[in-house]
This record gives sequence, structure tokens and C-alpha cells, in this order.
Amino acid sequence: MPDLSRIRIPPPVTIVIFGASGDLTQRKLIPALHTLAGSGLLPERYLIVGVARTPMDDDTFRQHMREGVQSFGRGQVQDGPAWDGFASKLHYKHLQYDRLEDYQDLAGYLAQLEADNGLPANRLYYLATPPEVYAPIVQQLGAASMCKTGNGYTRIVVEKPFGRDLASAHDLNGKLHYVFDEEQIYRIDHYLGKETVQNIMVFRFANAIFEPLWNRYYIDHVQISVLEDVGVGRRGGYYDQAGVMRDMFQNHIMQLLTLTAMEPPTSWDATLLRDEKVKVLRAVRVPTPSEMAIRSVRAQYRSRKGDGPTYRQEEGVAADSTTPTYAALEVFVDNWRWQGVPFYLRSGKALGDKVTELVIQFKEVPHMLFRTDDRSTNITNTLSFCLQPDEGFHLGFQAKVPGAGMRARGVDMDYAFASTFGEQGLPEAYERLLLDALLGDASLFARADEIESSWRIIDAIHHAWASGDGPPLAFYEPGSSGPDEAVALLARRGRAWTLCCNNGATKS
Ligand code: BG6
Repeated sequence: MPDLSRIRIPPPVTIVIFGASGDLTQRKLIPALHTLAGSGLLPERYLIVGVARTPMDDDTFRQHMREGVQSFGRGQVQDGPAWDGFASKLHYKHLQYDRLEDYQDLAGYLAQLEADNGLPANRLYYLATPPEVYAPIVQQLGAASMCKTGNGYTRIVVEKPFGRDLASAHDLNGKLHYVFDEEQIYRIDHYLGKETVQNIMVFRFANAIFEPLWNRYYIDHVQISVLEDVGVGRRGGYYDQAGVMRDMFQNHIMQLLTLTAMEPPTSWDATLLRDEKVKVLRAVRVPTPSEMAIRSVRAQYRSRKGDGPTYRQEEGVAADSTTPTYAALEVFVDNWRWQGVPFYLRSGKALGDKVTELVIQFKEVPHMLFRTDDRSTNITNTLSFCLQPDEGFHLGFQAKVPGAGMRARGVDMDYAFASTFGEQGLPEAYERLLLDALLGDASLFARADEIESSWRIIDAIHHAWASGDGPPLAFYEPGSSGPDEAVALLARRGRAWTLCCNNGATKS
């Protein structure tokens, strides 16, 4: 249980989840709200109203949510008053997303519930639906005058994917802005809810040790790896339209890049923080079309021997699909701090391990006085942030090999969050983000210009690839560390991919 005397509790609220019969609600949102409630982090008076097309009564919805909490929540459901108290807050209303009368009906239903429970009209709408109904929902909320309630706040959380390119993201922003002010809009990226991702900022801006070195004079290059061991599973239909650039780069990887590269904001303030992130995105230089073939890699998993999954045989995937399930890129951030420092970004599915890691590779000493131990495979002059699964840091540096002579060898100093904060210490990303949205803190949510700046980068890559300027589609074995072409991308510059997480300092 957190120390509640030091934590702000949000005001009474009604949370309205659109898409309440779907996976996200059952697996993530309700388990997160259940944990928040159990930790005393929700106000005493609140309601959660699930909305979706499927007809269902309150009891069925509660049962469905109970199964979600049981299967996907942190900790078991406590039968008795604890669960009954939470369940009594859950309600369900079915509606057609594009029918105005249904929204007018919903408005009356919410007003009645609020009156019955003595709640002010503070509303948090959450769009957990498929993205194609975001626009109709927003338009109907506007038409039914549900975007601004007189005596409370109204906010809207929008899930990813936010658009599929710059034009569609701009269009969706336009539709949202037609009925909501930017301050009311919370575009969610669950990576920003991860403790270890937020910790990049604390590490950089609460310590004076590393920041003076955080620039082109001391850093050779930066690597961001978001590697997954799972394939596309049952999401083939969605994924084949999206591909790795839309699914992982536009959002999660760009967030990691901006947090690593941004200047310190003058205070922890949503506007100032996001201003700095947008500056980074605007400074990102993607390879020109003629460089694209040597600075980018796109690949798909394919089992040669037929004993592993092959992307083109996954359910919902076209048999001749060229959608990449893996990509690697070399980009630069054109500003004073980072001029000339390559950022290597990679992400892929069906790889050997699930690892998310940020590696800062510092420059070597200008002149080495000592012989290095040839047997040492350790990586040196490296600061690595393990974001998942073994959250912590690694600092790789040279130390003297004991005994005669003056031989140096790479050693690893590591810090694991679990050793200080315990295994249970890290909350789920959705807990943090839902709480922030309820508190009105948009710092960890993407702003309209941030999303659009990020799409500018992704679009440039997609356009080059589509016009034939990119590299040919490569293939990699499922369960491997990725395509050989990604190794070659760094090898060409005398570098190698590094991973320090999972206790395995490795280069490839
Ligand atoms: C989602 C992507 O945004 O992030 C998925 O749509 C991906 O394809 C997931 O698997 C990865 O999230 P995490 O938290 O498991 O790294």
C-alpha cells in the first residue's frame, strides 16, 4: 500500500470506457482500475461505465471484468466486500457508435447515475475501441453536447494507433480539436507509463554525474532495441496493415528516443516537457531516399525448415505480404548536442528474447595504456538501461585484472530495481497513466504536434521503401536475434548491437 499522505487522490469521477467488451478493457483497464481502487488511489466516489455495441447487463459485465482482474490483474480478486465494493461501481450501457440518439440516451443515463451517487459531472472518456470508430465517437460526443459539462471537467483518453500516417493523424487531431480543447485530450502510449521509461528522465535530470557527458563529445552512439519473442499471434489482420514501423516505431521507439535525446525542461510541466520532446522529433534526420538502402533494414520472420512460425502463414496475413515484422534504422538528431551521433533503432517480433534496452555507448579513451584481457567479452564504456524484463542499469567499464602486470578487463556494475523496491514495486503502466489522466497531468501523454512530428519521420521511411529506394525485404529465422542485414548495418561502421539485460552482455 503506498503512503497515501504524500499522494494526490483525484476528485470524484465517472470513467466511461468505449469498447468495454473488448480485450484492452478486460486485460488492462479494469485490472489497473481495480488495483488503483485497492491501493486507495481512487476517490471514494467514482463510477466506471462500460460502453460498447454488444448488448449486456451490468451483472454480465461485472462477471466478465472479474475474470479479467482474476486472470490479468496484479494480485487475486478478494471475494467479499472488497470485490463487491468495486463491482458495485461497474455499469454497462450498449450503444451504436454512430447513432446520435444513443449518445443522447447515454448522456441522460450518466447524468442520472451521477445524481444518484452524488457525483459532480467530472468525466473521463476512454477510447478503447478499434481506431476506425474514434472519429464517429468523438463527433457524436460533440453532437450530443457531452464534451464540456458545466460543473466539472471532461477529458478524453485516445488509445494507439493514432492514425496510420501523418495525414490521417492530422485529420483525427482536427476532429478531436473540433469538439475538445487540446488540454482535454490524453493520447496514450503505454511505454510512458512504464516506471523504467520514466526513470530515464529521473536518471538524466536528477543526477549531475552523467548529464555533462550526455552529448556528442563523449557519446559514440546510442542504441534502442525493443525486441519481442512473440509473433503476431491472433492480431495478423491488424498487423499486416500496420507493420513494425506503425506498431512500434511511431510510438514506443520515438518516445524512448525523445526521452534520451531531449534537453532538460525547466520544470516538470506537461507543456515544457512536451515542447522539448517535439524539438527532438523535429530535429530527427531520417536517411535520404538514396541512403535508405544502407541505413535501414526491413525484414519478416520466416521459418526455413518449417519448424517455426512464418509470418505469411499467420492468420489474417496475406500470403504474399511484404509487411515488415522487423526494422532497424540509423538516424541522426540534427542539433548542437547530438550532431554526428548515430541513433540505432531496432524492433521486431518472433525473436529469441523479449528485451527492451537503451544503450549509451560512450567513446573509448583516446589512448589505451593497458593491454586488454582478450578473454573478456564484457562491454565497456557503456551505460545500459534495461527497461524490461530485468529492470535496472548496467555500467560497463574497464578494471584491472588482479595479479601481476597491468591488464585491463571489462566489468559490469549493475543495479536491479527489484533489489531496492521489491518485485511488487513496479506498478503496471496503465495504473500510472489512468491515475495521471484522472489527476489532469498530461506530462506522460502525447501532444498533437508530437504525434504529427513522429509520423513525419515514419512517413518518410515508408515513402522511400514504397518507392523502391529502400533495402529489399530481408528474412530472419523465428527465435533468432534478427536478420543478418541488421548486424551489417552497424558492422559497416565498425559497431555491433549490444545487449546487457538478462545478465547477458552480448554483442552481435
Ligand atoms: C503494443 C504493440 O503497442 O506494444 C504490440 O501493438 C506489442 O504489438 C506491445 O507487442 C509491446 O508492449 P510491451 O509492453 O509488452 O513491450
